Amino acid sequence: MIRLKDKEFSDIVQYMRDEYGINLEKKKVLIECRMSKILERYGLDSFAGYLDMVHQDRSGEMAGEMVNHLTTNYTYFYREADHFERLQDAILPELLGHSVSGTLDIWCAGCSTGEECYTLGMTLEEYKRIRNVTLRTRILATDISGKVLDKARDGEYPVKELEGLPPEWRRKYCGDTSGRTFRVDEELKSCVRFQRRNLMDPMPASERFDIILCRNVMIYFDRISRNRLIKNLEDALKKGGYLLIGHAELLTIKETRLEPVYPAVYRKKKE
Ligand SMILES: C[S@@+](CC[C@H](N)C(=O)[O-])C[C@H]1O[C@@H](n2cnc3c(N)ncnc32)[C@H](O)[C@@H]1O
Repeated sequence: MIRLKDKEFSDIVQYMRDEYGINLEKKKVLIECRMSKILERYGLDSFAGYLDMVHQDRSGEMAGEMVNHLTTNYTYFYREADHFERLQDAILPELLGHSVSGTLDIWCAGCSTGEECYTLGMTLEEYKRIRNVTLRTRILATDISGKVLDKARDGEYPVKELEGLPPEWRRKYCGDTSGRTFRVDEELKSCVRFQRRNLMDPMPASERFDIILCRNVMIYFDRISRNRLIKNLEDALKKGGYLLIGHAELLTIKETRLEPVYPAVYRKKKE
């Protein structure tokens, strides 16, 4: 295993914090264990050499790979189910009022391998069917890691991942489930646009959202990065829009201008 020197460790910690918000202060062993193999794959014998390569890679792919190995992409269908129930029962009716048609812009920030944005797509389809509304939904799903985005775009998952989904949804949206893997319905996939984005960067003013899901992402962030992320998310919301975060990441009154409305759900004031 390639040893991580103290100076290299502090350089990596600083780089990951400044660029991606991720706090690795207590993760020296984790970095050494998880990154050694990657260094060997690149034919490197030091972490300093690796960090140089990451700095020089303008595509950002190497940095994405590093984030990928040092954080978890753990996700699953229908995670934190009450959010999807709340969307159907309260948030969507509130946003749409009495209209029988409309457009909703939704951002899945830190989407990992796609289970979250596809669960969201299924929720929206069900809402349209049950309420008989014509709803145009545009879902933007972003992550820092190109690798997880490729998996998400592909939309193929092991059948055991179906466990969390209601049986009716499996039949409707998950194609043939008799083999070892299944593919998410093509129509559902076509509603989602995937993009590689760093959540530390502000969203361009041309993109504003009615609903943002940014769940189980800021658990890895230190206070300063968390504040930067919260500000970016607040700015990216339309007035009256909703932010859904992980239930383990609740925001304090000091941290946000958004109002808490349900557990782990916040709303931007209308004026
Ligand atoms: C644990 S997963 C959460 C996935 C999903 N939101 C969920 O709740 O199941 C966290 C994701 O955040 C992404 N991430 C971490 N830091 C990021 C950053 N600075 N910009 C964009 N994505 C980031 C990771 O690559 C990872 O895929």
